[in-house]
Amino acid sequence: MRTDPDAVESALDGARLAVFRHEPDWDRDPCGIAGDLQWIGCRYGVDGVHSRGLAALLDAVTDSDRGCLLGLFSPGGGAVRAGEFRLKGAGRDIHLSCDAMVEPGGGGRPRRITGTIQDISERRRFEGTLNDTLRSKQMLLAIIDACPISISVADAQQPDTPLIYVNRRFQGLTGYEPADILGRNCRVLQGPDTDPEAVAAIRRAVAAGDRIDTRILNYRKDGTPFVNGLLLAPIRGGDGAVTAYIGFQSDVTEDARREEAERQRQRIEVMGRMMGGVAHEINNLLQPITLLTQELSDRHADDADGPYLDMVLDCARKARRIIGDLLAFSRPGNRTAEPVAAGDLVAATLPLVGKAIGPGVVLDTRIDGGAAALTVRADRTAFAQVLLNLAGNAAAAMGGNGTITVALDLDRAVDPVNGTGPRHARITIADAGCGMDRAVLDRAFEPFFTTKPVGQGTGLGLSVAYGLIKDMGGDITLASTPGLGTVATVLLPVFDPPATA
Ligand SMILES: Cc1cc2nc3c(=O)[nH]c(=O)nc-3n(C[C@H](O)[C@H](O)[C@H](O)COP(=O)(O)O)c2cc1C
Ligand SMILES: Nc1ncnc2c1ncn2[C@@H]1O[C@H](COP(=O)(O)OP(=O)(O)OP(=O)(O)O)[C@@H](O)[C@H]1O
Ligand SMILES: [Mg+2]
Repeated sequence: MRTDPDAVESALDGARLAVFRHEPDWDRDPCGIAGDLQWIGCRYGVDGVHSRGLAALLDAVTDSDRGCLLGLFSPGGGAVRAGEFRLKGAGRDIHLSCDAMVEPGGGGRPRRITGTIQDISERRRFEGTLNDTLRSKQMLLAIIDACPISISVADAQQPDTPLIYVNRRFQGLTGYEPADILGRNCRVLQGPDTDPEAVAAIRRAVAAGDRIDTRILNYRKDGTPFVNGLLLAPIRGGDGAVTAYIGFQSDVTEDARREEAERQRQRIEVMGRMMGGVAHEINNLLQPITLLTQELSDRHADDADGPYLDMVLDCARKARRIIGDLLAFSRPGNRTAEPVAAGDLVAATLPLVGKAIGPGVVLDTRIDGGAAALTVRADRTAFAQVLLNLAGNAAAAMGGNGTITVALDLDRAVDPVNGTGPRHARITIADAGCGMDRAVLDRAFEPFFTTKPVGQGTGLGLSVAYGLIKDMGGDITLASTPGLGTVATVLLPVFDPPATA
């Protein structure tokens, strides 16, 4: 079969490829540029360059690439040579690639160089765009990965919406590595105390392709629980169908705890206001009842009615004590709080507490010297009553046997908004007793709430402690784990006397 030269040339044109053969005239030019140059199919994008030979091509090459072109024709070097160079000129972005075979001549100088030059500008431009795209995608992924909020993406078009991406913060928050969790549904974070209602709400939203902003109790890989502030949003394709879901997770345990404590506080205060009015009225009635019964009891001390009147008097006095406690809880105020060193305040109370808790209970005290020197404003009698109530509860929770640890230190909690905050002396009363479950803990400060058998407790101890401590401008909280014990914490604001000039 004969080769059709026209067909060859148009094929070379299509490939933007030129074939050349160059025989350098070493006598005329020590660089080997001068000589006999023949081209076939020379369409490498630079009109006219081929017609003026290799010297014209050398002129058109950018300065930085000239060495590369010269290297292709230079004496010495291998038989197979390749290089790339660009052509200069305004508005031109032409990349040429050259592959050449060198036939050696005398003195190590090429006798003939045969090769191809191809215009690869299009390929280079495409590669440039591809690199830019890849770079910007990589950058985007790096940004998402470095986000300080946990991000997860699930494939909504696969059965059971498996996770296909989680960023680094997700791993930090949940403890799950991508290998542990990719391909699985995110419900692996849920556990025994996760509210089924919260799960159902998410299920409905995901099924409907809706966005949902919720809170749900989740568990890290190591089993520790946290409240997850979860935002899920659908990602839709061009046709509007949900193709993926993006999820943002954040640990809002502390917010949830603070909000719950605030709700509790409000509930207790409303209860206090309601009871306060009633307690006040009953107290007004009990005063004359007690006084008049006392009077009658004195008069009938020696007759048959005497014991009955003593019983009435006894009941009236008990009722007054209960009403007095209720008033302490609901109508705090009018007590004489005075500046006192926190260490003295606690130390003065401990002997009383020691006597009250019974012989089976040991009192372990840990007083931080710095905190002991702080001045707080307190009513000593009221503070003693609080500590007695808390220690009494601790002793009862341990069945009258065990150790109660009373500690005094400085609370360094910082206001999350201002970054500063009032300093507090912190007194903790810790026991290793039966502890409280969530339901008991939620109601412990309620007046008349008790889990003790009838006749053993009025359920007013914590209510009174609450009222008295609030009255001193402080706070009282409980933390408890069923079966392990309870820590009651009393905070009293540190009193900084005005600086004297
Ligand atoms: C992208 C994405 C992230 C999710 N992240 C969580 C999560 O962090 N914690 C969680 O409890 N549920 C998360 N879910 C919800 C569960 O995967 C699942 O939809 C939910 O448990 C309701 O479905 P189910 O009743 O079939 O379990 C996420 C869902 C999606 C789509
Ligand atoms: N340290 C504790 N450990 C376990 N449970 C506690 C503890 N402190 C309080 N409680 C629980 O809180 C309830 C309410 O306590 P509170 O002191 O108000 O009343 P009470 O001790 O039952 O009765 P009262 O103090 O009037 O004798 C208790 O009955 C108990 O269930
Ligand atoms: Mg009590």
